[in-house]
Amino acid sequence: MAKVSIIGAGMTGSTTAHWLAEKEIADIVLVDIVEGMPQGKALDLQEAMPIIGKDVKIVGSNGYDETAGSDIIVITAGLPRKPGMSREDLLAKNADIVTSVVKETVQRSPDAIFIILTNPLDTMSYLTMKVGNLPPERVIGQAGILDSARMRAFVAMETGVSVENINCYVLGGHGDSMVPLTRHSNIAGVPLRDYIPADRLEAIVQRTRKGGGEIVSLLKTGSAFYAPSAAIVQMVEAILKDKHLIVPCAAYMQGEYGLSDIFFGVPTMLGRKGVEKIIEYDLDEEEMAALKKSAEAVRKSTELLKEMGKI
Ligand code: APR
Repeated sequence: MAKVSIIGAGMTGSTTAHWLAEKEIADIVLVDIVEGMPQGKALDLQEAMPIIGKDVKIVGSNGYDETAGSDIIVITAGLPRKPGMSREDLLAKNADIVTSVVKETVQRSPDAIFIILTNPLDTMSYLTMKVGNLPPERVIGQAGILDSARMRAFVAMETGVSVENINCYVLGGHGDSMVPLTRHSNIAGVPLRDYIPADRLEAIVQRTRKGGGEIVSLLKTGSAFYAPSAAIVQMVEAILKDKHLIVPCAAYMQGEYGLSDIFFGVPTMLGRKGVEKIIEYDLDEEEMAALKKSAEAVRKSTELLKEMGKI
């Protein structure tokens, strides 16, 4: 059985373990600094396995030895956003947490693929690659699947069509300047723009951009965790099953879309090696300009990290 270690056993980490256990594709290790919490959640989940009929080992720990030999390390450790707080506000604090997590995990699982969720995730992915001295294809940020899923959900609510028929692609950084590509999105092959009136579609685009904030202001404490963790599990499954699945993820840019040396949300092909390929859409001028604007926001955050001396 493959092994997936999830660092940060809070809302997203433990919900990831839950979805993942149901798939029966990997043993799971949950790590957190809160004493007893990862152990308690792991044991509780382990005791659910006879009921759902899955033979999966789930271990909780406050240390890292149990993570040794992991195929995938998922990093959710950090502080979540509070109302009114931007993802960038989290930068300095979460940079220190992610740095320590990467150092602890890389030495015990030198071949692992890293999936980063801690925000601001484009920048945290960059930090992970640098601190861990990892090849770019083994570091993947989770955001695009989530942002696209939000858009798909809103389109389904608007049209009443099955979510399975709805394909949406949201690229760019995981922030308010993300780029929902309406021209490439469709309902069972029918372009979204032909199906939904322009003003309704624009409302969906705006709601998608602010999708994370909408949940934060409703929850009041903490940020979204069901959809983010479902997205992580889709990535884990694509990697472990070597599916060559094309999904939007934050990947290291090396000239694609005219961008380099940042992590950025683009369509990626995921398989056993991690990011196998970055797909380049044929974008029009307006789409390209929006993407460039989003890239600047990500670059600023990455530069800030450098100025702070974190990398
Ligand atoms: N090592 C391990 N775990 C840590 C560390 C650390 N150094 N520092 C904090 N944690 C743990 C916390 O104890 C907490 O249990 O990380 C967990 C984070 O869980 P939550 O606070 O429930 O936050 P969550 O909603 O899961 O979000 C986690 O994902 O979406 C992003 O912005 C979000 O960065 C945040 C991350």
